[in-house]
Amino acid sequence: MDVGHGKVILLGEHSVVYGRPALAASLGVGCRAKAIESSSSSITIETGKMQRAFSRAGSFKELGCVALSPDSANSTAEHESLRKAFIALLDSYEKPLPELALRITSDLPGGAGLGCSAAMGVAATRAIDELVGLNRDAIEVADASMAWERVFHGNPSGIDSAMAARGGIAVFYRGKPLQMVDVKVLPLIVIGHSGESASTRSMVEGVAQRHAQSPDQLEAIFDAIAELVLQGRVALEAGDLARFGQLMDRNQQHLEQLKVSTANLKQMCEICRAAGALGAKLTGGGGGGCMIALVADEQVSINVINALKERGYQAFAAQVGVGG
Ligand code: PMV
Repeated sequence: MDVGHGKVILLGEHSVVYGRPALAASLGVGCRAKAIESSSSSITIETGKMQRAFSRAGSFKELGCVALSPDSANSTAEHESLRKAFIALLDSYEKPLPELALRITSDLPGGAGLGCSAAMGVAATRAIDELVGLNRDAIEVADASMAWERVFHGNPSGIDSAMAARGGIAVFYRGKPLQMVDVKVLPLIVIGHSGESASTRSMVEGVAQRHAQSPDQLEAIFDAIAELVLQGRVALEAGDLARFGQLMDRNQQHLEQLKVSTANLKQMCEICRAAGALGAKLTGGGGGGCMIALVADEQVSINVINALKERGYQAFAAQVGVGG
């Protein structure tokens, strides 16, 4: 099976679309894919064990198991995006491909800010590469998988695809290779789900509209976030998690100014801080989906998870940067 990592953005979502840096970390879960020759091309998405466990609690959207041939009709909007992404990926190969059956298993929930579509695209690219004997490095795989990702996100910065292909903890600038960040201990975070599913595409479009209306104001916010990212890298490398938590809190304020947070996400961040988290913010596109809270140790993570669950939110702990 070929793999694409899920990710969280620790600092810098949205401003990264406008050329500023962002700091991201891979998750230990992601997507897996396998491609085999077949009489006609098709794509099947199945939900992995972990995603099914989240879905049972009701807050994650099930992708379901779908079999789509490139020319199938009457699919739902979600299936239609998958079908178009599959075709875009197949079309991106220079040499003609054999008819192939692609099966992707997704352990990540979609619409949650955890990079599900990019992880699927990277796993799919690796699976097709393996079938046709192409040997590409992580940067080339991430670039190739952008054909898939653009179908979902319209104007992706590329951070999700780069992280899905490489893993680890890294600073990303649009159009440039990842700068890997060296940390002594992988950070422990709590990931909480707001119970709302969100479209990254529409959140990015919303910020673009506000940017067109008030360019100076938004550019100033992007610059302020960029400064947090640069300081965050230094804090992480020095193992100064308390400082990093403060930077996350400030990033959340800027994300609220960008109008990509929600009442639930804001409330969840406050719950986490009150339960002992070092800092908290939404992660990914916002408008719903997930937030993250940085915690000092496992005991605090349990306290934070319990506090979120008491208020009806689903949450789990994850060590980030795994697989880098
Ligand atoms: O919602 P996600 O996991 O796809 O993260 C999107 C991150 C953004 O900065 C909002 C968009 C992008 O392409 O960088």
